[in-house]
Amino acid sequence: MQQFQLYINGKFEAGAAQFESINPATGKTWAIMPEAKTDEVNRAVCAAKNALYQSEWAGLTATQRGKLLFKLADLVEQAAPRLAELETNDTGKIIRETSSQISYVAEYYRYYAGIADKLEGSYLPIDKSDMQTWLIREPVGVVAAIVPWNSQLFLSAVKVGPALAAGCSIVLKASEEGPAPLLEFAKLVDQAGFPAGVVNVITGFGPECGAVLSSHPDVAHVAFTGGPETAKNIVKNTAENLAKVSLELGGKSPFIVFADADIQSAVNAQIAAIFAATGQSCVAGSRLLVEASIKDEFIRQLVKRIDSIRMGLPNDMKTEYGPLCTLRQRQKIEDVVAVSVQQGAKILAGGIIPVREGYYYPPTILDCTHAPQADCMTTELFGPVLSVDTFENEADAIQKANSTVYGLASGVFTNNLTRAHRMMKAIKSGIVWVNTYRAVSPLAPFGGYGLSGHGREGGTSAVLDYTTTKTVWLRTSDEPIADPFVMR
Ligand code: NAI
Ligand code: MG
Repeated sequence: MQQFQLYINGKFEAGAAQFESINPATGKTWAIMPEAKTDEVNRAVCAAKNALYQSEWAGLTATQRGKLLFKLADLVEQAAPRLAELETNDTGKIIRETSSQISYVAEYYRYYAGIADKLEGSYLPIDKSDMQTWLIREPVGVVAAIVPWNSQLFLSAVKVGPALAAGCSIVLKASEEGPAPLLEFAKLVDQAGFPAGVVNVITGFGPECGAVLSSHPDVAHVAFTGGPETAKNIVKNTAENLAKVSLELGGKSPFIVFADADIQSAVNAQIAAIFAATGQSCVAGSRLLVEASIKDEFIRQLVKRIDSIRMGLPNDMKTEYGPLCTLRQRQKIEDVVAVSVQQGAKILAGGIIPVREGYYYPPTILDCTHAPQADCMTTELFGPVLSVDTFENEADAIQKANSTVYGLASGVFTNNLTRAHRMMKAIKSGIVWVNTYRAVSPLAPFGGYGLSGHGREGGTSAVLDYTTTKTVWLRTSDEPIADPFVMR
């Protein structure tokens, strides 16, 4: 059985305890993971603090930091097949997706590597003739990055990349559900030659490892991706250290199809939006809002397309649809679907657990046109369940699109140009995809409104989040300071 290790202060170690990690495709233990408890977390934060202020890291030029990040990007690219295999084994995410996603993760590191020496301060044209005044950008401090199980390499790259570009040091906490790819990533950090303690990679459970890390007095910024309930705990955890917090949470993203849309394209995009990654995506387009006049035809084509989705073992390149990550997750989905059916939702596809080993749940569609308040319309299921409602006109579509507490992503399908522009302005979500869905890039900021969190990852502005400014005043006059009792 494979065994993984923590990475603290440039050394690999076994952890305070070990726990078994399950392969969701079989439901069986496949590897042994190291658990970081209070002592390991404290040592990791201490290492990060020392690295920030005392190691050679603090003395590197921004260009040298960028070079280390370029090296890391190359190593991630070379290791992509191995990292993908580990992520697939540990989380059940299909190898088709993990392998293409991880190769692309290298581009995120390259993007932030390039930014490292383009972070400029400024000179202020101050309104006092005997003063020179500058703004200097400095790293914000020790960053605690906490990620969920899905797409861990990707979700950590959008934190580790900008934080290192800014000159911070990091304690990265992998999810206890599938930490293998990040623990393996630690080896690449080591190989790239970052000074000890600049990046520490640990894993463990939320209530101890996550809580001790986010509340640690030496942590300056907690960059969190995960569920909204955990996010509330993170905010509570930072009540004492007053760390800066950025939150990337879930959603109940609307997928809006107008009658004038290219229907075949919309059908494929809706399949991608809710059934790719078995629906376990923060941006899942889980609420289909379809113009009433085309509902029946649209649903007919969707249901037909579902029939040809290839469910199978996640490590087979031909598989399009794998298991859910955990049994608990499948149970939650089953429960919400059952309650929604009692509330009046009708099952149009799926809903019955297939007879096979592993945590599979079928692509499922629920018609909620007569039960728009059903739980499945408002609860983030983080799984392959599409809830359907209709709308009569544009105003109705906007009202329904904006009717949840979330606001992460949205999709609009229309061939009417002016309508597309009106919709992108009216929808309250951090991302609006028009005639496409689930497109990402290191250049494009990513994040939400409302209970989908705040802060934006990706793009140049993300680096600024990991910096703080220092205002420097320098008096140029040789005259003695006269009156000590007035403000200068
Ligand atoms: P989760 O919220 O259960 O766990 C996320 C991380 O928080 C884990 O590392 C966990 O150990 C840690 N944690 C748990 N309790 C903690 C505590 N009290 N203090 C500190 N840390 C704690 O999320 P899960 O189930 O792993 O992932 C699914 C969720 O993540 C969904 O809601 C999904 O929408 C969201 N997500 C958001 C994304 C975004 O970019 N907006 C991307 C991917 C997922
Ligand atoms: Mg696992």
